[in-house]
Amino acid sequence: MTASGTPASTGPASVPHLDVDPFDMRFFADPYPAHQRLREAGPVVYLDKWNVYGVARYAEVHAVLNDPATFCSSRGVGLSDFKKETPWRPPSLILEADPPAHTRTRAVLSKVLSPTAMKQVRDRFAAAAEERVDALLDKRSFDAIADLAEAYPLSIFPDALGLKPEGREHLIPYASVVFNAFGPPNELRQQAIARSAPHQAYVAEQCQRDNLAPGGFGACIHARVDDGEITATEAPLLVRSLLSAGLDTTVNGIGAAVYCLARFPDQWQRLRDDPTLARNAFEEAVRFESPVQTFFRTTTREVELSGATIGEGEKVLMFLAAANRDPRRWDRPDSYDITRRTSGHVGFGSGIHMCVGQLVARLEGEVMLTALARRVAKIEITGEPKRRFNNTLRGLDSLPVTITPA
Ligand code: HEM
Repeated sequence: MTASGTPASTGPASVPHLDVDPFDMRFFADPYPAHQRLREAGPVVYLDKWNVYGVARYAEVHAVLNDPATFCSSRGVGLSDFKKETPWRPPSLILEADPPAHTRTRAVLSKVLSPTAMKQVRDRFAAAAEERVDALLDKRSFDAIADLAEAYPLSIFPDALGLKPEGREHLIPYASVVFNAFGPPNELRQQAIARSAPHQAYVAEQCQRDNLAPGGFGACIHARVDDGEITATEAPLLVRSLLSAGLDTTVNGIGAAVYCLARFPDQWQRLRDDPTLARNAFEEAVRFESPVQTFFRTTTREVELSGATIGEGEKVLMFLAAANRDPRRWDRPDSYDITRRTSGHVGFGSGIHMCVGQLVARLEGEVMLTALARRVAKIEITGEPKRRFNNTLRGLDSLPVTITPA
């Protein structure tokens, strides 16, 4: 706005300015009032704290995600602009790439994580979910984050990748660095990067061909080198993408689903009555909690978006979580409803970068919620849930619960 309050025609002056800091602890503790402010302020806003544009309504988030030529990823999907700053690690060959480079690497990961690949791991994933629920029924009272949301993916995903048993304790801390690093240079980001060296060393080593068990997702990526689809130097970096994005995301996704089902007993009852709703109950948790809250894009040219003119080289912050609860798009957006038609939510993104691991995430979520629904009668929260703070991920640090067998 100009001093008189009327929007000028171009540049940051043409859109409402907000003093919201979406990377502040108070924001993380309860983002919903700020999400509403962001949506209501206008289709495009400007965040003075970090000098970036923001979009929080569904229509604009969807539009930005689906115009990768104008809103590119190769300059980084965090605040840092790779054209102006050196990235903290070599950029991702898929997430931080644009077509045509992206098209080639994406094809490789799409094949490695295809529906056929899911069929091969499904029984193992389902059996591990049953075993985890057995162990939890023995305990009755436990931490639904450490003992369920973390323990379950840790019991299957590193094996599915083909990782060695040693050193796996680096996986979640590494992912935490990756997702904090998308944020601005606040304490979370600086501290995460400062402590990242041992985690980075572990990951770099595990991505090498010799360290990955035959038949796993990692070995399948390296096998593409033999077909000439990718080079031997690209393969380890693509394995790194799975180590970066494949574990902490599902931890927070499963944590979100359990937290929702524990908080909303009517929805838990519906799931118990019909466990085939498990897949949608997980999907709705991804919409409702949006484990991945935000991503940035960078403009490749001056562009007009819903009446706002954004110059070239500007960072645009997409509030995926706010779009997933935009009343312009969703009926009763703040209700967790496991029978909702969830398609179109942007919790996994949209367009060419839409989560390439979504089938893995959905499979884990489905088999875990199915196992719980069949075997557990009640989930009660028995203590104050504690939040885990991260510049990109939303989730809990602990959720004390007691379960009753069916
Ligand atoms: C609930 C769990 C998950 C959520 C909420 C999630 C969310 C997302 C989102 C929002 C994007 C879009 C990024 C963008 O547009 O810039 C994305 C991309 C990606 N995800 Fe996931 N993800 C999850 C699980 C996984 C898993 C299990 C894997 C690997 C096995 C994975 C690997 C990736 C990769 C490699 C990309 C980049 C794709 C590309 O740029 O083409 N994700 N994810």
